[in-house]
Amino acid sequence: MAERPYIVGNWKMNGTRAMLSEARAIDRAAQRYMKVEVALAPPFTLLHAVHREAEQIGVGAQDCHAEPDGAHTGDVSATMVADSGAKFVVLGHSERRGDHGESDALIASKVSAALEAGLRIILCCGESEATRDAGKAEDFVLDQLRAGLPKLEDASERITVAYEPIWAIGTGRTAEAADIAAMHHAIHGLLVETYGEEQAAGVRILYGGSVKPDNAREILSLSHVGGALVGGASLSAESFLGIVVAAS
Ligand code: G3P
Repeated sequence: MAERPYIVGNWKMNGTRAMLSEARAIDRAAQRYMKVEVALAPPFTLLHAVHREAEQIGVGAQDCHAEPDGAHTGDVSATMVADSGAKFVVLGHSERRGDHGESDALIASKVSAALEAGLRIILCCGESEATRDAGKAEDFVLDQLRAGLPKLEDASERITVAYEPIWAIGTGRTAEAADIAAMHHAIHGLLVETYGEEQAAGVRILYGGSVKPDNAREILSLSHVGGALVGGASLSAESFLGIVVAAS
């Protein structure tokens, strides 16, 4: 188990103001598990409201634009995200890459914009089932990260990586423990190459993909797994807190 596991709920395109009671319940309960860092990434429309509820948990966005402002109808900049009170942004999620055709280059510019705005980032990576079956998962994931990881002196303060095999997202299938451990080991190796041993030791690598209260303990006990990025199970305080308890 990581020194301070990081459990992040990604609400995706779910949540209206009625969900604020779940955020409040998560925040109040998180105060009992100070050894775990807990955060939520609600949709843009709830960012400020969740931030106002949050005394203990972190709040972040699920995306941002690469430009600081301008004529980009419907988009939200990193500066706006920071202005809402959010402290981090999730970038490069496979649903952004898939639904919006986000390239590694675009994600790298979003990473720069987010850091420039003072946000921490959670940079996502993960292979499709076809890529895994072809034996190319590790090369694919490391290439995604080489393209997205910024040059930084204080990476451990600002960067988190999330490994989410696409075929495990929302499917109820989780990767085999040995495969998760092997991928996290490879990612840690790349972080050491990029930032050096000391900084890399502080960059947590989250696992995402059908994490639930009943499988969280096993996943979180694997070496180099520093926490979880949770989708479906973060939509109710009860199941999300089950994962927080497993991490504590
Ligand atoms: O970002 C979290 C994610 O993609 C995993 O979703 O629903 O499989 O926990 P889920």
